[in-house]
Amino acid sequence: MHVPFVLSLSLLAGSVTAKTCHNFTIPVNISSRNFVFNNIATPQTNLDTTTFVQNLTTQGRNLVADALTGYATVAGIYNISAQFCIPSGTNATLKNPTVQVLTHGVGFDKAYWDLPYNNYNYSYVDTAVDQYGYCTLAYDRLGIGRSSHGDPKNEIQLPLEVQALAAITRMLRNGTLPTVNHAFSKVIHVGHSYGALQSYALTAMYPDLSDGIVLTGYSTNGTFTGLFFAGANLQQANLNQPLRFGSASNYGVFKAFVDNFALVDLVTPLQMAPVESFNYVNGYMTNANANSQQYMFLQPGYFDPGILYYGEQTKQPVAIGELLSVGALPAMSTFKGPVLVFTGSTDLPFCGGDCLNTGTSAPSIPATARALFPNASVFEAYIQPNTGHGLNFHYNATAGYRYIQDFLMAQNLESMR
Ligand SMILES: *[C@@H]1O[C@H](CO)[C@@H](O)[C@H](O)[C@H]1NC(C)=O
Ligand SMILES: *[C@@H]1O[C@H](CO)[C@@H](O)[C@H](O)[C@H]1NC(C)=O
Ligand SMILES: *[C@@H]1O[C@H](CO)[C@@H](O)[C@H](O)[C@H]1NC(C)=O
Ligand SMILES: *[C@@H]1O[C@H](CO)[C@@H](O)[C@H](O)[C@H]1NC(C)=O
Ligand SMILES: *[C@@H]1O[C@H](CO)[C@@H](O)[C@H](O)[C@H]1NC(C)=O
Ligand SMILES: *[C@@H]1O[C@H](CO)[C@@H](O)[C@H](O)[C@H]1NC(C)=O
Ligand SMILES: *[C@@H]1O[C@H](CO)[C@@H](O)[C@H](O)[C@H]1NC(C)=O
Ligand SMILES: *[C@@H]1O[C@H](CO)[C@@H](O)[C@H](O)[C@H]1NC(C)=O
Ligand SMILES: *[C@@H]1O[C@H](CO)[C@@H](O)[C@H](O)[C@H]1NC(C)=O
Ligand SMILES: *[C@@H]1O[C@H](CO)[C@@H](O)[C@H](O)[C@H]1NC(C)=O
Repeated sequence: MHVPFVLSLSLLAGSVTAKTCHNFTIPVNISSRNFVFNNIATPQTNLDTTTFVQNLTTQGRNLVADALTGYATVAGIYNISAQFCIPSGTNATLKNPTVQVLTHGVGFDKAYWDLPYNNYNYSYVDTAVDQYGYCTLAYDRLGIGRSSHGDPKNEIQLPLEVQALAAITRMLRNGTLPTVNHAFSKVIHVGHSYGALQSYALTAMYPDLSDGIVLTGYSTNGTFTGLFFAGANLQQANLNQPLRFGSASNYGVFKAFVDNFALVDLVTPLQMAPVESFNYVNGYMTNANANSQQYMFLQPGYFDPGILYYGEQTKQPVAIGELLSVGALPAMSTFKGPVLVFTGSTDLPFCGGDCLNTGTSAPSIPATARALFPNASVFEAYIQPNTGHGLNFHYNATAGYRYIQDFLMAQNLESMR
């Protein structure tokens, strides 16, 4: 069947890349049963933030249980900031295209999938769209980046974020997603880290919403997450980057200080005024600096130091409610489609830095996720060599993207070509 496909937007004339993309906002009307964590105070300072991480990482302590006082329904209409891409030259006549919904992890936003660094040489979207003919929808998770923020403790939690993902997916399927006038019959969910957990939760709760799932930077082994959050040296986001994560009005304070102490010559080469301020309230936390980011995400020797600094400049925070609700996952999935787990060999949070050191007969730590998917048509756990948790930031990232697309193509989940 030949399905007309027209984007109700004026195309980006003269776009330098082959893909055609548009950024827009998706209002979602959602509700979820969230946790109420009234036995813990939202950290207000960096001292509180470190105290929180000490509590979170104490052996034998269950901070979530300590903090939990009950459950409550949270509902609202939230804005989700999205980027939709299609292969160039095909916008009017895509035949039965397949869309990949891309959910980023902690520390990033949707740009994780379409990194502009080195002229898009690390772009997952470029590989999926230009080389394999997929459509992609990447979005900022609820609470993060240009999507609606919210109360970082009792509102921005995994259950509500999964509902946002479900709403976006239903709109893609029923043809009501703003800007995209097409009802997709095939939707693939690709997630990284926290985004993989949400993609897993979505497809376990609503198995019919997905035709295939790719869980990157993922395993079911929670032994090592403490290393990740300790190594992050979490700070209050709006204290760590006061201009970018705080309010642009903080610029006046900095400018007065610089002028007053005649530091103008020293700092003039620096761009002090932020391009954009995110206005995160207290309770949104971020890694301290580029060194903590390296520890969390990158394998030494296998990344361009420049991309580390790019990552630090464009990083995004995590809400305390996201950390406390991370375990709200169905124990098993009835999903019947294909499942690819795709994790870097030296992933820190999900493998403790060595995915192959299992101490058992299991071929890798991510491979044990097979037990969650008894009815998957295909299950594969692939270990991407010489790669840490932040897969897309490594030199060999694009070879990994091709591995993922080839897996999908082999499952009859090709796009229109
Ligand atoms: C949002 O959803 C609720 C519950 O389904 C419904 O009562 C309400 O009318 C919806 N709001 C809008 C603006 O669609
Ligand atoms: C940390 O735990 C102590 C008790 O051990 C508690 O008094 C404090 O409120 C907790 N603080 C945070 C931020 O978790
Ligand atoms: C969503 O965006 C619209 C249009 O910019 C704005 O009016 C509305 O207040 C936003 N809603 C939220 C929850 O941020
Ligand atoms: C894409 O669509 C726009 C408007 O619908 C049209 O002007 C343009 O020529 C189309 N481009 C291609 C390559 O089909
Ligand atoms: C659209 O979103 C992408 C991904 O976040 C970003 O890199 C790009 O700069 C945005 N483009 C515009 C025109 O805002
Ligand atoms: C882009 O990546 C390829 C390998 O994927 C590499 O050979 C090439 O040098 C890179 N180009 C730039 C500008 O970094
Ligand atoms: C499409 O899905 C959205 C999200 O679930 C829902 O709000 C809307 O009513 C649906 N529209 C149609 C025409 O089915
Ligand atoms: C798997 O499929 C079998 C047979 O259809 C069914 O009995 C079983 O409940 C399913 N298990 C899960 C976890 O979906
Ligand atoms: C997690 O992985 C470590 C290292 O392979 C292993 O010792 C431990 O038993 C695993 N834990 C679970 C719950 O699988
Ligand atoms: C790059 O990634 C591909 C796909 O996983 C893999 O086959 C290849 O061995 C990797 N190359 C290096 C040098 O790690």
